[in-house]
Amino acid sequence: MSSMLSRPVLISAAVVIVLVAIAGPTTMAWSSRQQSERAARAMTGGDPDHAAALLRRYGCAGCHTIAGITGADGQVGPPLSGLRQRVYIGGVANNSADNLVQWIVAPQSFSPRTAMPATGITPAEARDVAAYLYAH
Ligand code: HEC
Repeated sequence: MSSMLSRPVLISAAVVIVLVAIAGPTTMAWSSRQQSERAARAMTGGDPDHAAALLRRYGCAGCHTIAGITGADGQVGPPLSGLRQRVYIGGVANNSADNLVQWIVAPQSFSPRTAMPATGITPAEARDVAAYLYAH
């Protein structure tokens, strides 16, 4: 039997197919993460890279489970993932970047009886945290 395609050519083709199958989805996942981080920066004016330290310093991590933050496994409040898809914040405020920042700084301004305390986080720091939460 004589094939038009030699064995090395077939093997090379198979290798290329496998590489594309692996690299395609990986690159797409990476670029969609980049995109949602860019969008979150634009929406909030904050820097998500500062958020991890703030989420620990102000006790957020002790009360909330937060994706991507080691040790943030609190169960007092709701998990803070997929926040961008929510319609309301704290069940009372329309989900906008400004409302999210204000909720993080002063939840009682929206919801006087909420169990979430004002932690002393500044509005600028809350923007960094909001950027992180919208990106994750
Ligand atoms: C003492 C525990 C506690 C701490 C500390 C705390 N939270 Fe909360 N948080 C809560 C509770 C409880 C709720 C639910 C409040 C409600 O619905 O009235 C909540 C709600 C929220 C919500 C709204 C979530 C939703 O699903 O709508 C966000 C966002 C949030 N917290 C962010 C933070 C951030 C950021 C910090 C740190 C600056 C923080 N929280 C600190 C207890 C806490």
